Amino acid sequence: MEPVILHNRRFELMLTAEEISGRIRQMGAEISASYASKNPVLLCVLKGAFVFTADLIRQFHFPCEVMFVQLQSYSGSRSGGKVHMHLPLSGQISGRHIIILEDIAETGLSLIHLIAELEKLNPLSIQIASLLVKPSMMQQPVDIRFRGFEIGEAFVVGYGLDYDGLGRNLPDLYAEIT
Ligand code: IMP
Ligand code: MG
Repeated sequence: MEPVILHNRRFELMLTAEEISGRIRQMGAEISASYASKNPVLLCVLKGAFVFTADLIRQFHFPCEVMFVQLQSYSGSRSGGKVHMHLPLSGQISGRHIIILEDIAETGLSLIHLIAELEKLNPLSIQIASLLVKPSMMQQPVDIRFRGFEIGEAFVVGYGLDYDGLGRNLPDLYAEIT
């Protein structure tokens, strides 16, 4: 198969849209088993998790609300360290069960920062669902209860994830060819 080229870098197929949707159905069932009676807040971490969020929430057949937070720690293809965020209002989080929906946890630092900020808003509980996790790149332990796929260190694009703005529209997931 032809590699995908975004800007100046080349990517090859890693997970097909079918493999991803099969796994998301399983995650949907797992999450439903714990949250069906809790009216949880599903907190989508923009921008990367918008496709995952759209597919996952349609597995839920119980009351739930969707909210959004924008985090930005990435420039190009390296974790930038500094994180900017626009959180929901505290009245929307306080007393609620929160499930953070992330596209990928790499160093884990943006999740740790997000959780610290959310805790100030007094939620009842916080859990994380991340479509992708890079266990070998984690810099601090993060409890990611629901995980789609554990992957290696390669930079990935597609299914919502981008390289410098491009690639979010690809239905499959691609890994950089190095
Ligand atoms: P972390 O703080 O290092 O865990 O990185 C978190 C954010 O960086 C993720 O939510 C993504 O938006 C972005 N990111 C990390 N790894 C990748 C990747 O391989 N491809 C695209 N974006 C990534
Ligand atoms: Mg993200």
